[in-house]
Amino acid sequence: MLRRLYHDQPETFAFTPDNQKWAEAQMKKFPEGRQASAVIPLLWRAQEQHGWLTRPAIEYVAQMLDMAYIRVLEVASFYFMFQLQPVGSIAHIQVCGTLSCMICGAEDLIGVCKNKIAEKAHEVSADGKFSWEEVECLGSCANAPMAQIGKDYYEDLTAARLSEIIDELAAGQVPVPGPQNGRFAAEPLKGLTSLRDYDSGKTKYNASVQAAVEIGDTVKRIDGTEVPLLTPWVKDAAAKPKAAMKPKAAKPAAKPKAAVAEAADAVAEEQPLTLDAARETGADDLKKISGVGPKLEGVLNDLGFWHFDQIADWTDAQVAWVDSRLKFKGRIIRDNWMAQAKELAEK
Ligand code: FES
Repeated sequence: MLRRLYHDQPETFAFTPDNQKWAEAQMKKFPEGRQASAVIPLLWRAQEQHGWLTRPAIEYVAQMLDMAYIRVLEVASFYFMFQLQPVGSIAHIQVCGTLSCMICGAEDLIGVCKNKIAEKAHEVSADGKFSWEEVECLGSCANAPMAQIGKDYYEDLTAARLSEIIDELAAGQVPVPGPQNGRFAAEPLKGLTSLRDYDSGKTKYNASVQAAVEIGDTVKRIDGTEVPLLTPWVKDAAAKPKAAMKPKAAKPAAKPKAAVAEAADAVAEEQPLTLDAARETGADDLKKISGVGPKLEGVLNDLGFWHFDQIADWTDAQVAWVDSRLKFKGRIIRDNWMAQAKELAEK
C-alpha cells in the first residue's frame, strides 16, 4: 500500500503546553546532539493529540529535533502505527490479515468492517466515528483472529463479537479487551494447567487486560492528562523549557542575549573572526566536518563562517561564543570541529 501524505492538510500544528513539556522531557533522555532518537515518541504524541499525523505535525517534530523534514517523513511513512490520513473519531480498527488470523476468520472480520464502517480500508465511516484497515501479523497468532483497537488487542474474535464491540464503542462503552471467547490468555480451550493466578482472586483478567480494564480508556487518546505526565528520570522536566528547545526559534545570530546567556557556561565568550561572505575562492564545504549537516552549515554561514581555517583556530572562549548560538550545545567539542577543520584546511 502506498503511504502518502493526505491531500487535505491543516495549516499548522503545535503541541499543547503539556505535550510540549512532555516532548522536551523525552528529548532529554538522549545525549546532547542525539535528540533525533526521540522522533518516534514525538511523532506518536503528535498523532495522539491530533488523531492522525499531519504534514505540519511532521514538520513541527522535524524542527524540534533539528532533523531534515524528509528524515522525519521517512519514519512517519514507514511505520504503519502512524496514520497519515484522518481516522475515526472514536476508533481506528486494525484487523490482522496474516496467516493464522486469515485461517481462523479474518475475512469475516473485514466483512464486518466493510459493512459497518466503510467499504474501503482507511475510509472514515459516514458518521465519522470509525475507520479500519488490514494489517500484518500483530503477534497474537495463538488468539487468532484478532484486531487492535486503540491501545488494546481484541482476540479470539468472531464476526458477531466484533460487530458488538463496534456498537459498544459507538455507545461510549469500553468493551473488555483480550480474548473474547472466555479464555484467560492463550491457554488450551479446556483451561489453564499452570500459572493459575486468577485462582488466587487477585486478578480477574490476564495481565495487560487487567490493566486495561482498570484504566478503562482503551480508545482514549493520550492528551497530556496522564499521570505521571513527565519522565521521572528527568529531574528538572517540570522546569520551564529552554528557549533553545522550542521550534520556530529565531535565527541563531539574531537570538536575544538573554536566551544566549541561559546556555552559557563558565567560559567567557569571545566572538571569533567572521566574514560577511565567502572569499573569492568560494566557500569551503563545511559539511565535510563530521557532525555538520546542510542545516548546520547554513547556520555557520549565517554566523559568518565560510572556511575551514576560520574554524581551525577557535579558542575555548570562541567555541563558547559559537556554541551558545547553536541549537544543541556541545557538539563542537564532542566532534572536535577544530581538529577536523585544521586537517581539511591543510589538504
Ligand atoms: S497472524 Fe494474526 S496476530 Fe499473527
